[in-house]
Amino acid sequence: MSDMRDQVERTLLTQAQIQKRVGELGQIFSREYADKNPVLVSVLKGAFVFLADLCRAISVPCSVDFMIASSYGAGTETSGQVKIIKDLDTDIRGRHVIVVEDIVDSGVTLSHIMDMLQKRGPASLRLATLLDKPARRQAHVDIDWIGFQVPDAFLVGYGLDYAEKYRNIPDICILKPEVYQA
Ligand code: IMP
Ligand code: MG
Repeated sequence: MSDMRDQVERTLLTQAQIQKRVGELGQIFSREYADKNPVLVSVLKGAFVFLADLCRAISVPCSVDFMIASSYGAGTETSGQVKIIKDLDTDIRGRHVIVVEDIVDSGVTLSHIMDMLQKRGPASLRLATLLDKPARRQAHVDIDWIGFQVPDAFLVGYGLDYAEKYRNIPDICILKPEVYQA
């Protein structure tokens, strides 16, 4: 009754598949950002697991900072509204910034955040997302690195939640529709 796996339809990406891809991205960043001391900006909460693994796959100095944005509430559809709940502590003017996201779905949240960060005058601003769900894109977003393209299904695990649950599942799974349609 309390097993999270009972609410999951199937595993889409295993822990091993994710770790392999995160390792590849870490190598790319270590090469491209050697001597640039980039700041990895993570949009909480969903990206916290990806960021934790990605930063440890990077072998050159970097720092991390966090923002909290919300467009979702407790549902599975974007509200079209983006609220900045917590802004960065870092002054990113002149810094090399990599925004680290869990998933780009409608793109509404990210397009808003990228515009906002660009206005602060970073030396460079690029976007890495673990997951790209292109089927439901509403706002254009330039994505520099994609971990995996995913189908139009509601995903949980590896940081992704439904109503704040399931973030601690180590794999990325498709949630049973009856869980959120109930
Ligand atoms: P957007 O629709 O691209 O603005 O997505 C904003 C946020 O919604 C993402 O950063 C996720 O936190 C969340 N989100 C989008 N799709 C999913 C999903 O399939 N599962 C869990 N969260 C999601
Ligand atoms: Mg998110």
